[in-house]
Amino acid sequence: MRILILNGPNINLLGKREPEIYGSDTYNDLKVLIKEYANKHNIYTDFYQSNHEGDLIDQLQVANNVYDGIVFNAAAYTHTSIALFDTLKAISVPCVEVHISDVDNRENFRKANYIRQACVGSISNEGINGYISAIKLLEKRVIWLFQ
Ligand code: DQA
Repeated sequence: MRILILNGPNINLLGKREPEIYGSDTYNDLKVLIKEYANKHNIYTDFYQSNHEGDLIDQLQVANNVYDGIVFNAAAYTHTSIALFDTLKAISVPCVEVHISDVDNRENFRKANYIRQACVGSISNEGINGYISAIKLLEKRVIWLFQ
């Protein structure tokens, strides 16, 4: 199984950025956590983080027919980007969105979510462990599709 872990703006600042909301683990800690899980479960993972909307769109387009699933934290673009929504609808790789924080119960402007409706699942408020929950969802989906 091949999974792309895609992260949007400011996720590279994990650990330094509002630790009371996003925790003290760094982006590198996140990668280590995911790689440990992936290695045990025979999953190949690639990581990509960008602060630029167009870069994220390019990565999603390239991911089509390459990966079996995408775990995507679009960060602030979640709340603004019809372009990312369109891209997720245009590709056939299933995507699970992740938010480290309890995104639905924060500021009102975070209630808008363009990404969720183009995803097969959504995980939030689990800290960086939410990425593992998202991978598990994709694993279940693959098992279910091929049994
Ligand atoms: C976030 C929540 C978003 O609202 C915010 O803009 C982020 C991170 C999260 O992981 O909780 O940058 O996606």
